[in-house]
Amino acid sequence: MGIQRIESVTHSVDDLGACVRFFEDFGLFLVERTDEHAVFETLTGQTLHLDTDPGPHLPPPVEDGPTLREVVWGVDTREELDRLVTAVARDHRVRTTADGVHHTVDRSGFGVGLTLARPRKVTVEPRRTNTYGSVHRWNEPLEPLTRAHPLRMCHVALNIAKKGKDEAVAFYTGLLGFRPTDVVEPMGVFMRAPGDDDQHTMLLCHRPDRVSVNHIAYEVPGFDDVIEGGNYMIERGWREARRLGRHTVGSNVFRFLHAPCGGRVEYAADMDRVDDTYETRVHETTPPHHIWALRTNRDQDAPAS
Ligand SMILES: [Fe+2]
Repeated sequence: MGIQRIESVTHSVDDLGACVRFFEDFGLFLVERTDEHAVFETLTGQTLHLDTDPGPHLPPPVEDGPTLREVVWGVDTREELDRLVTAVARDHRVRTTADGVHHTVDRSGFGVGLTLARPRKVTVEPRRTNTYGSVHRWNEPLEPLTRAHPLRMCHVALNIAKKGKDEAVAFYTGLLGFRPTDVVEPMGVFMRAPGDDDQHTMLLCHRPDRVSVNHIAYEVPGFDDVIEGGNYMIERGWREARRLGRHTVGSNVFRFLHAPCGGRVEYAADMDRVDDTYETRVHETTPPHHIWALRTNRDQDAPAS
């Protein structure tokens, strides 16, 4: 089948202490920490590497300051991995490190790795809901979650240059087997990995016409997690980057935060799932960013209570 999921990402960072506090507050699990680097895990075993001096196998940073240096993609079988590495190596330099990761660079300058996927099984029990005629929660008042713990990194959004954007997309769709789901001509291409059923696993966005990290999204089980996780981050002093809403493309409920490792992170829930019968949608104009976003006039019109 091919690429299943994001296996790991690496950021080069300036302030490791701030980054560690941020991702502890965000709900990831710290598994390794030195003076130079830290490694966090999601519940499904993907890793986030924060490094003040990333290894020489990575390409130079695509922008000043802390940023994303590499996304390593997890492949389902050894045969598929060999096939992909052989295909990439025809036109790109590939370096293999002792941990079994094959490293190359995409057309925009982001590091790309390929390795065997090592998904950790996790049982997800979303909160049961009650609706008239559809009751799933009896005699069970809810308690606050207080924290969110991401299940997985579900997608990555990268900003790319307008010049050469088709080649930048073709690296993923032609060489690595990604399937375009929504092509938004003035903005970018949403695509999914062949082994993932999320509506998108990746967005290459050319609208800013600047190569940089846009965001990485982390799936949480439900809406309470998105909201309470974001509230906790605000309580801890981190800055929200966008008001709570639900996207048009992908339908996911989202909350964004500025991240000290560069770009933003997203708590995401309830994204559309699609299979191979989903036909690529091509949009000549950009659809609205969201189906809804939180609005309030409470603070303007009413005294605080
Ligand atoms: Fe997103």
